[in-house]
Amino acid sequence: MKKSLTIHDIAKIADVSSATVSRVLSNSSYPVSPELRSKILRIAKEHNYVPNLLGKQLKTKTSMTIGVIIPTITNSFYSSVILGVEEIARKNNYQVLLCNSFQNPELEDKYIQGMFEKQVRGLIISSISSDKKQLKHFIDMGLNVVALDQKMDMPDVCEVDFDYNKGGYMATRHLIGKGHKHIAYVTAPLDRPSRLSIHNGYLTAMREAGLEPLVEEGGRESYSGTYEFENGKMLTRRLMNGGWRPSAIFACNDMTAFGVVGELAALGLKVPQDVSVMGFDGIDFGQMITPPLTTVLQPTYEMGRIACDMLLDMLLDGKKPNSGIMLLPELLERDSVAEPSVGPAAETAAGTMH
Ligand code: RIB
Repeated sequence: MKKSLTIHDIAKIADVSSATVSRVLSNSSYPVSPELRSKILRIAKEHNYVPNLLGKQLKTKTSMTIGVIIPTITNSFYSSVILGVEEIARKNNYQVLLCNSFQNPELEDKYIQGMFEKQVRGLIISSISSDKKQLKHFIDMGLNVVALDQKMDMPDVCEVDFDYNKGGYMATRHLIGKGHKHIAYVTAPLDRPSRLSIHNGYLTAMREAGLEPLVEEGGRESYSGTYEFENGKMLTRRLMNGGWRPSAIFACNDMTAFGVVGELAALGLKVPQDVSVMGFDGIDFGQMITPPLTTVLQPTYEMGRIACDMLLDMLLDGKKPNSGIMLLPELLERDSVAEPSVGPAAETAAGTMH
């Protein structure tokens, strides 16, 4: 490998001190004559000088890196959040270091420690762990943290929250408004604040309308890029083989809803003529399936932008605001929800045929 040029090499070529080169290249306000400045910049350019940021980072004990930990990038909900984070980071000359916890709390803890050791300036996290001891330890040591997606309720953590409860309520009300009475909720394990809140919103709407809720919950989550899709398929099979068949299925997220739609098709049922399907998240892929998915929209890109802005505010002000922001859901009406029909397949689906 070709050895890269150092500040000392440039100093030798320009016949000045290394300190002067360093001042010019770091754009310091220390006075250096315009001629000398352009001579140094020209030499650096001609020799393709690349600054040794790692060395600088070690010296100043700071970096221009922001850490982001998410469960898994295979769910494009998180890809969109990250793009939002990155836009703000880039505009402020930061880079993003991304880690996937793969739904594994131990790995999440490892990454938090690794990021702290790499001296990231701050961390944006969607935490899947119920034990926040390790995170608290690093916050006490000075790590700035913004939480999104999963509520943390920790005094030194800033939060970008979303009203999942309202979203769950809104989605269920929409199905009820269309005339559905047999509405099932299919979900990944109810072990995270977001999922629990959507579930609570569903229950509230069902109870208010005097309807019997039916919740199908997936088993322990293991990492697989297609876990949610497979879970949606498995829970739909279970539902449609049970005695109480729904005319509408509400899924905890769009990835799960894709599995629901796929499995209904495999069972010979049409969406929405036989069974309506409602998603949650509003990821772009939802408009690419047939029929396009009706869903609850989360402003994912905006969520990422706000989280990064918040983190940069924390870094600049040196304070840890004990505050957050709550984003609101919006119903995205596409084609996967319709009024329940009364054809034979629909009657079977709604459990009225024996
Ligand atoms: O698909 C991602 C969404 O579902 C997020 O809101 C997360 O909370 C998950 O449960």
